[in-house]
Amino acid sequence: MSFRTIEWRDNKVVMIDQTRLPGEEVYNEYSDFKSVAEAIRGMVIRGAPAIGVAAAMGIALGVREIIADTQESFFQQLSNICDVMAATRPTAVNLFWAIDRMKRVAEANRSRPLAEIREILKLEAIRVEEEDLAICRAIGKHGASLIPEGATVLTHCNAGGLATAGYGTALGVIRAAHEAGKNIQVFADETRPWLQGARLTAWELMKEGIPVTLIADNMAGFFMKKGEITCCVVGADRIAANGDTANKIGTYSVAVLAKENRIPFYVAAPISTLDLTLESGDAIPIEERHSREVTHLQGLPVAPEGVRVRNPAFDVTPARYIAGIITERGVVRGDYEKGLRALVGQ
Ligand code: MRU
Repeated sequence: MSFRTIEWRDNKVVMIDQTRLPGEEVYNEYSDFKSVAEAIRGMVIRGAPAIGVAAAMGIALGVREIIADTQESFFQQLSNICDVMAATRPTAVNLFWAIDRMKRVAEANRSRPLAEIREILKLEAIRVEEEDLAICRAIGKHGASLIPEGATVLTHCNAGGLATAGYGTALGVIRAAHEAGKNIQVFADETRPWLQGARLTAWELMKEGIPVTLIADNMAGFFMKKGEITCCVVGADRIAANGDTANKIGTYSVAVLAKENRIPFYVAAPISTLDLTLESGDAIPIEERHSREVTHLQGLPVAPEGVRVRNPAFDVTPARYIAGIITERGVVRGDYEKGLRALVGQ
């Protein structure tokens, strides 16, 4: 990869600042957990798996900041750090998955000296990042066969290297098909209001030399109806037990359009994005973000001052619109409830 989304370096967390792409490729350094939490909230780092890695590394930083004489005090402060991380963004379940993983590792090592627990948590956070990269490659391998030679693949938002430890989920599938020598191209939806498609997906694919065409969100149906789109692949923030999938706002519209035009619509995501405690997508919490994201573009107003705004950051695509869920353990189709539970051995 020609960029690094996030890494642990010299006891600091380094992230590419996604609020400044594509104009500037700037790397920010963080040395305290509160600023990592702020970076997640402010979308310096975003995308479900990348948020998980950032939370794990934020916790690893946080435990270095703890001053404690007793194990009880240390674990109380660790719990507070985890609460701060958990309050950053509500929809991507990878955030909560990573926090739980760090808590579990800390608990399993409770009787060790504090210096050792700090070191163990640092290594665990680095492992979350390394594993994510391997998982994305496996997702790519499983998904590549679904992309036909000569395909035009439509994607929404950014489910790429920037949204993960590298390589990507939806873009991982596209990368793997490209690496396998398939002559494919990508249509990227701009993804209003935050423009992950225009700013990030287009940047990332151009950097890798994968042919990409940028379209405004409201053009997807036009190109589908004209027969110019072969299939759609998107990422996910949370997948319920029945296969209903929360992803970036606008994903549902793409899925409905794809069904109407008989185009397969795939979701690519790691197992850590499954939330099998939820029966359906109705129970997935949807983040509402600041109205300014809708009323302003690059700091300039595009709407009358004081207008009422709604800004849900995600929507839920019902499972019936999804042709397959591509994970690192294989592709699930048809009966998602059964297939997803089988993947995790439930
Ligand atoms: O608000 P964002 O940019 O964090 O939303 C990101 C998405 O919706 C992605 O599609 C999803 O997290 C999958 S990332 C591999």
